[in-house]
Amino acid sequence: MTDSIRVTGGRALQGEVHVRGAKNFVSKAMVAALLGSTTSTLRNVPKILDVDIVASLLSLHGVKVNYDVDSGVVVMDTSDLTPADAVDIAKHAGSSRIPILLCGPLLHRLGTAVIPDLGGCRIGDRPIDFHLEILKKFGAVVEEGPDGLHLSAPNGLRGIKHELSYPSVGATEQLLLTAVMADGITTLHNAAVEPEIKDLIDTLQKMGAIISVDTDRSITIEGVSSLVGYDHVSLADRIEVGSWASAALATGGDIFARGAQQRHMGSFLNTFRKVGGGFEVKPDGIRFFHPGGPLKPIALQTDVHPGFMTDWQQPLVVALTQATGLSIVHETVYENRLGFTAALNQMGAQVQLFRECLGDKQCRFGQLNFKHSAVISGPTPLKAAEIEVPDLRGGFSYLIAALAAEGTSTVTNIGIIDRGYENFRAKLTDLGAVID
Ligand code: EPU
Repeated sequence: MTDSIRVTGGRALQGEVHVRGAKNFVSKAMVAALLGSTTSTLRNVPKILDVDIVASLLSLHGVKVNYDVDSGVVVMDTSDLTPADAVDIAKHAGSSRIPILLCGPLLHRLGTAVIPDLGGCRIGDRPIDFHLEILKKFGAVVEEGPDGLHLSAPNGLRGIKHELSYPSVGATEQLLLTAVMADGITTLHNAAVEPEIKDLIDTLQKMGAIISVDTDRSITIEGVSSLVGYDHVSLADRIEVGSWASAALATGGDIFARGAQQRHMGSFLNTFRKVGGGFEVKPDGIRFFHPGGPLKPIALQTDVHPGFMTDWQQPLVVALTQATGLSIVHETVYENRLGFTAALNQMGAQVQLFRECLGDKQCRFGQLNFKHSAVISGPTPLKAAEIEVPDLRGGFSYLIAALAAEGTSTVTNIGIIDRGYENFRAKLTDLGAVID
């Protein structure tokens, strides 16, 4: 498969896409399987690169993984776990940040864990300080080696009281995956409460964990000495749904996202409606369409759940280039998630970036010189260009821009998009896109 795609734009995308499980839940649920002494079964699993990466990381640790792609069922037999080598982990993980989440379960089951140098999408620095602080507080001993960080728990792991300075998704998951089998009670304040985290909590409960979530972003976990496997159906990928919805809007199209679940998409649907997009919630999915006439500009701030998620921002910004007037976007989750707009400007968009917080939300980046606010002036016709994908969501956004543009664009480095968008080439073709 080549790492570039030619997209001839100017056509409305029309038809249906099937959206399966959420990348950002499925990968964590697969890690959670490590905690169970019996086999786990995960359903509605999409065929994406991140699933392959986690499957190979589990296999390296002795898990027998069976993935039936068509039915989307992954069965994980954890009866024979073994430690893995840092170099092998690094080789299989590539730039994924998942190895950090294996630590708690591996410390419980094997007594040791290794974290190779981590990458993830290039969105700012993406540090792991929250994760290490949590693991150390539970009693993990972290030693630096030439191949990465080596963790052990000579005295076992004990429950902690912890407050996050920012409701990080990964750090909340780290704490959950470690606390469920730690000795005693753990409390977490200022936790992330994304739907993917709620689904992880449901999964862990099926395994035998005792977890309660309060309305004030606090979570209490009573540690148990052993857990069993689970059988669970993943929630739908709400980021993929938002991406197809934005593609429908930017191209003047009409897309039915089969599998989309309204209950996880509230803030997106509100925003989509304010921009002037049409949607219709059906029993088996959501139809998104451009109802005709001009789109409206909006002021938008990304936020942790239940706010407008950062991963929806990039695809929607492409649609906002077609709204009449000035839209304002304040990105408060990542310091560097607006850099992708330079390529949109190259295609004819008018997006100006600002260091200031253009919104009333107190944000960590206001004083730090990061260009994390954008003013988008529209509507601007887009024209084809040669563009290189910078990260997963930025990459899909470039595809949307190319689909909305006149002429044939070449989008390179598209392999990244396979990390989170199942069969995106086939889905685009089915929707009438001209790609080769
Ligand atoms: N942060 C720290 N220190 C840490 C961890 C995070 O400062 O140790 C900061 C980050 O730099 C960022 C903020 O906290 O500014 C939020 O990061 P978070 O930990 O919430 O993100 P994550 O767990 O690394 C997950 C998703 C992201 C999604 C974010 C926010 C996965 C695998 N990734 O990342 O998804 O954007 O939560 O919702 O679940 C994507 O799917 O394209 C993607 C980037």
